[in-house]
Amino acid sequence: TKIAILISGRGSNMATIIEAQRAGKIPGEIVLVLSNKDGAGGLALAKQAGIPTAVVASKGKSRAEFEKGVQTALEEAGADFVCLAGFMRVLSEDFVVRWNGRMLNIHPSLLPLFRGLHVHEQAIEAKVAVSGCTVHYVTPELDGGPIVGQAVVPVKAEDTPDTLAARVQKAEHLLYPAALAKCLGGEPEWDVQPGILLSLR
Ligand code: GRF
Repeated sequence: TKIAILISGRGSNMATIIEAQRAGKIPGEIVLVLSNKDGAGGLALAKQAGIPTAVVASKGKSRAEFEKGVQTALEEAGADFVCLAGFMRVLSEDFVVRWNGRMLNIHPSLLPLFRGLHVHEQAIEAKVAVSGCTVHYVTPELDGGPIVGQAVVPVKAEDTPDTLAARVQKAEHLLYPAALAKCLGGEPEWDVQPGILLSLR
């Protein structure tokens, strides 16, 4: 499987997927890292890893134009599976349907709880005792596609959005590579860490 990873920022999830692939844990190869932001930190990480990169700016473009650019880059790279990893653009129904069953996203909450943005604020506001992250197939319903796996972490009374985000991100970095491996027919494995309960469907 030829995997493309779409990012908008730091790319910490992308980096863990690259590392897992290098360690032979992902049955596929990463053929492209694409960002809609030319300053995305993840682009430098991808280059260091020797992975082809592309920037398709979304700023100042219609959604149709932007997505045409993304599709062209994916086709030129020969990608047949897409991982959204910190990708901060909502994709159109047409684009999502075209990649139905071949596109994953990671969301930093236990869906269906806390969809959308500012998820850690929502969790703190709701005074839940646990939160976490979800890897799901992307469908036209925002943050609503079939769940591949989730990872649970505690929420502490003194948490701020930043402290919770940091704890959830550690779980993301465990979950995403394992969930991707499973979707690609691999044998998912991860280093069990205290305080993170990981479950794949
Ligand atoms: C992560 O918290 C992820 O849940 C969200 O974007 C954030 C940044 O991800 N989708 P990354 O460090 O760019 O992978």
